[in-house]
Amino acid sequence: MKRDSFGSRLGILAAAAGSAIGLGNIWKFPFITGQNGGAAFILVYLLCIALIGLPVMLSEFVLGRKTQANAAGAFKAIEQDKPWHLSGYIAIATAFIILSYYAMIAGWIFSYIGRAATGKLMTIAPEQLGDYFGSIIGSNVEPMVCTFLVVALTAFMVMSGVKDGIEKYSKILMPVLLVILVGLMIRSVTLDDASKGLEFLFKPDFSKLTTSGVLEALGHAFYSLSLGMGIILTYGSYINKKENILKLALQVTIADTLIALMAGIVIFPAVFAYGFKPDAGPGLIFITLPAVFQEMPFGALFETLFFLLVGIAALTSTISLLEVVVAFVTEQFNIARKKATILLALAIYLLSIPSTLSFGMWSGIKMFGGKTFFDLFDFVASNISLPLGGILVCIFVGWIWGTENAVKEITSNGLYVFKYNGLYDFIIKFLAPAAIIVIFLNSTGLLST
Ligand code: PFF
Repeated sequence: MKRDSFGSRLGILAAAAGSAIGLGNIWKFPFITGQNGGAAFILVYLLCIALIGLPVMLSEFVLGRKTQANAAGAFKAIEQDKPWHLSGYIAIATAFIILSYYAMIAGWIFSYIGRAATGKLMTIAPEQLGDYFGSIIGSNVEPMVCTFLVVALTAFMVMSGVKDGIEKYSKILMPVLLVILVGLMIRSVTLDDASKGLEFLFKPDFSKLTTSGVLEALGHAFYSLSLGMGIILTYGSYINKKENILKLALQVTIADTLIALMAGIVIFPAVFAYGFKPDAGPGLIFITLPAVFQEMPFGALFETLFFLLVGIAALTSTISLLEVVVAFVTEQFNIARKKATILLALAIYLLSIPSTLSFGMWSGIKMFGGKTFFDLFDFVASNISLPLGGILVCIFVGWIWGTENAVKEITSNGLYVFKYNGLYDFIIKFLAPAAIIVIFLNSTGLLST
């Protein structure tokens, strides 16, 4: 079976940046920034992205490009005799689990797009918005329907392949995302009193920074760049040998970071301008923002655009999560792409149901220290498998395949110049694995901060 590949450089960039830019940028980054005091946290985040995120992304890209194989096949292509391909299985399983609840959260966004467009959200009293959100995600039917819609749309786009599916739709969706984001940003910074929000984002107050904040920044850098799940690796396998991968990794990293910052610039000036608090946590966009939009002239319009923006960002990420699993299943078991996509999408949808019910009918079912199904999936995927996938890639590229081989691939065998061999070697062999271990110890509660 001939492998599919990306058709153009812009297409690769749109798809990889589309994967990186998601709920992590527009939902999570703003709320953790809000909880961790703003600018100082952002500075640490930027440092983590540059120092660790970028080199790890580069490693995933080159591993995929070198082997032209899926997330498990890539390890096998280089090391046949030892069970390294198991790290690929971990990555693929993680993508599978994350997609099941990521699609559910994207489903909540879809619910809000409808309610924003009909003006419904403008009619709920601000103090009721928390309960209102709770009642939507706690209901039995709507979240299931919306999650289904997300999974079905994702499957539709992945089904047609890399060039005619993922690339084609990313090239449409990403520019739309950018236009909406810039429009909302202009609206937000031109509000009276926007400066307080901008100060919060850009004027660091290091007294607000905590150790757990620093570790959260590090963990989020991985999540936001879609690392540790075989996604960048799989996309790398569709890139041709002449492409400048360092430039690509740099562009994806910069795009992801800029979009997160822009999302902050959309949200915080508006939040502060209307006297709301930045530290609402996960409810920031679902509870605080609707109250903010109620105060804004033409609020319903901006609100609809905002949730549309988040929905688009989420979809280009769900595409990449599904692609990792589809690439593996089609190649490993020789199943046609269409059939594999539909079957896997159905399986992922079924797995999303326990997470969905965790906010409603099954909220009383608790396991392992009081975790609902959703908490458990999120904990296992984000706090255990994700760091594990990340560290295995670093060890594999650093110690097994060898950074000198990785560098050959980065330079396309001498076609491009790469001057950072020593630094790259140190980061992949030592710094990144050490950082991931600390994230792991922190997020599993083994390290108390
Ligand atoms: N990186 C994306 C985000 O920031 O939302 C989402 C994501 C995609 C996370 C793929 C994890 C992942 F494996």
